[in-house]
Amino acid sequence: MSKALILGGDTGLLGQALTMVLDKSNWNVETLGRRNGNLLDPQFLQASLEKISPDVVFNAVAWTAVDDAEDHPEEAGILNRTLPHSLARILSKSKTFLVHISTDFVFSGAGYTPHKEEDEPQPTSVYGRTKLEGEKAVLALIPERSCIVRTAWLFGPGRKNFVDTIISACKHRDTIKVVHDQTGSPTYTLDLAHWCRVIAEKRASGIWHAVNSGQASWCELACEAVSLAGASCRVEPIATSEWPQKAKRPVFSVLDNGKLAALIGKPPRPWTQALREYIFSTYLPAQQGEDAC
Ligand SMILES: NC(=O)c1ccc[n+]([C@@H]2O[C@H](COP(=O)([O-])OP(=O)(O)OC[C@H]3O[C@@H](n4cnc5c(N)ncnc54)[C@H](OP(=O)(O)O)[C@@H]3O)[C@@H](O)[C@H]2O)c1
Repeated sequence: MSKALILGGDTGLLGQALTMVLDKSNWNVETLGRRNGNLLDPQFLQASLEKISPDVVFNAVAWTAVDDAEDHPEEAGILNRTLPHSLARILSKSKTFLVHISTDFVFSGAGYTPHKEEDEPQPTSVYGRTKLEGEKAVLALIPERSCIVRTAWLFGPGRKNFVDTIISACKHRDTIKVVHDQTGSPTYTLDLAHWCRVIAEKRASGIWHAVNSGQASWCELACEAVSLAGASCRVEPIATSEWPQKAKRPVFSVLDNGKLAALIGKPPRPWTQALREYIFSTYLPAQQGEDAC
């Protein structure tokens, strides 16, 4: 039985999905988060890794507040660059494999062709830049015993995400306005956790783009979520310029998942299918209960 250590496995959106999926796949799973101690203290980190002695570490801890990162570049850098660097340095003395999670926001989003693993990153935000620096730190120190899994636009159980925000907004409003001129790869955390498991089991080093198939704008994702949830709210498309945000987002950050498809033996299922599973399992049982009352 392989032993996994999941950083952020108790509380993170992806961390919890990894914990669930690996647990079900008969991995011996341990988690580590700030409840256990200060992950940013290299001595604590080293002692924890030595004590747990995992076969694979999954790093799902990050500074994920994209706009706040613009005001807190140091803090974002400590989580997104220094932590993976410390992890890789500590693991360089062991046989442990590291699965480090990264983001589509390492790309500038120019052009309209899905980004491949070998495409040149060019982040436009502090978040994207610090995540790219984290990737580089890992690949420089343990290239043979690590992988970078870039993903995007996550939805799934356990922690509030874009889809939850939209469905919740629809309960209180007749109309919501959602940006339609940014396009990406909506991805289900439980699918992503499954691909991460396969990548880890195969010790598949290098960079992987791990997203559900298809692409959408935020507005299209919101429309699909509203429709699947059976809400009657109107979703109105707006331009990015009408929804000013501190961090600059890529216009087109769709990731090409062809390399992952070859590894897992089939294309990842479409995001629409995964979203249906998420919404039906998360929202519709509750709604059916409410109807019954
Ligand atoms: N969400 C997305 O749409 C998306 C898109 C592309 C890539 N990604 C990448 O996917 C990975 C997972 O993202 P996610 O959405 O699952 O993140 P998340 O839900 O925001 O979880 C982040 C995790 O990091 C932990 N954390 C934050 N600051 C910490 C600190 N100072 N010390 C210790 N732990 C700390 C959080 O712990 P607490 O719960 O205690 O705060 C939480 O467990 C990240 O690498 C992210 O860059 C996410």
